[in-house]
Amino acid sequence: MIDIRNTAPTPPGTANVVAVDGASMVFNEGRSNEVDALCDIDLVIRPGEFVSLIGPSGCGKSTLLRLIANLLSPSSGTVLVNGKSAHQARVDQDYGMAFQQSGLFEWRSVEKNIELPLELKGWKKAARRARSTEMLELVKLSDFAEHMPWQLSGGMQQRVAIARALAAHPALLLMDEPFGALDEMTREHMQTELLRICAAAGTTVVFVTHSIPEAVYLSSRVVVMSPRPGRITGVIDVPLGSDRGEDTREDDTFYKLITEVREALRASETGGSSGCGNSSWSASTFSRISCRRPRRSGVPCSIGLTTSGMRCTSPA
Ligand SMILES: Nc1ncnc2c1ncn2[C@@H]1O[C@H](COP(=O)(O)OP(=O)(O)OP(=O)(O)O)[C@@H](O)[C@H]1O
Ligand SMILES: [Mg+2]
Repeated sequence: MIDIRNTAPTPPGTANVVAVDGASMVFNEGRSNEVDALCDIDLVIRPGEFVSLIGPSGCGKSTLLRLIANLLSPSSGTVLVNGKSAHQARVDQDYGMAFQQSGLFEWRSVEKNIELPLELKGWKKAARRARSTEMLELVKLSDFAEHMPWQLSGGMQQRVAIARALAAHPALLLMDEPFGALDEMTREHMQTELLRICAAAGTTVVFVTHSIPEAVYLSSRVVVMSPRPGRITGVIDVPLGSDRGEDTREDDTFYKLITEVREALRASETGGSSGCGNSSWSASTFSRISCRRPRRSGVPCSIGLTTSGMRCTSPA
């Protein structure tokens, strides 16, 4: 059974790291090239959670991450990070980012790229160098500290970007398919290392991926999104414990969860929808979904799904 919630249980007094409330994103609004990218997203992430966003290409995963990072502003709704506006969180450098493209500065060496966020935070030179050395060991690039980014392969550049994102041990990490360019063995190694680092530092992570096994291996919750305009159609808890390693990948529960996420993705794709606020999933695997009617109607409801379709069961 898929547990459709977009909020983890809240320990009393715990602040949210991310709180997205009713966020929609329309690009080029009112123009002929208008794109309804995200629709009515509600998502709360608590400290120490590892939340993966998964969904078909173009469903708005990167857009949602960019809203959290304040690289975009929502067309409607609000985004809070660490209890303040996403803009203030960006100014305060509350998070590290590693996106699809490495985004390295071509004129800075590998180690100087990694040291950049530390410079911005005012770290002394020796401390910066010690940390970049440590991070280069982590991503297995110690021999390339003085190279320039253009002297590295795409996968190596991506590992430098990950090292840079992790260097200042940010409390929140936003990662957009950061391992997509890596070979399988390096990818699995980086996944395990990422978990280790985040567990040690108590880091909260929002992670975009196309890989179901990667999402399950890493996450405490997997958020499943529908095709564009992206909505949250399912949230799957991943009870694999905090001590995950190579054995986890052989675990029966791991395979069961992979199947669960795959079915949730299939269900979200077969439903389809014609516009923001127009829910029309017909998902046999969804037992129950809490969603909202279009904002403009202002009438939230609870929707029960059966194998034959969808019915609104109760006004909320
Ligand atoms: N700056 C922009 N201007 C106009 N449209 C945009 C812009 N950024 C994204 N879009 C559109 O918004 C939709 C969602 O894009 P987004 O990049 O968030 O998808 P995604 O889920 O990350 O896809 P992928 O898995 O392929 O990376 C797409 O239709 C895309 O064309
Ligand atoms: Mg993307």
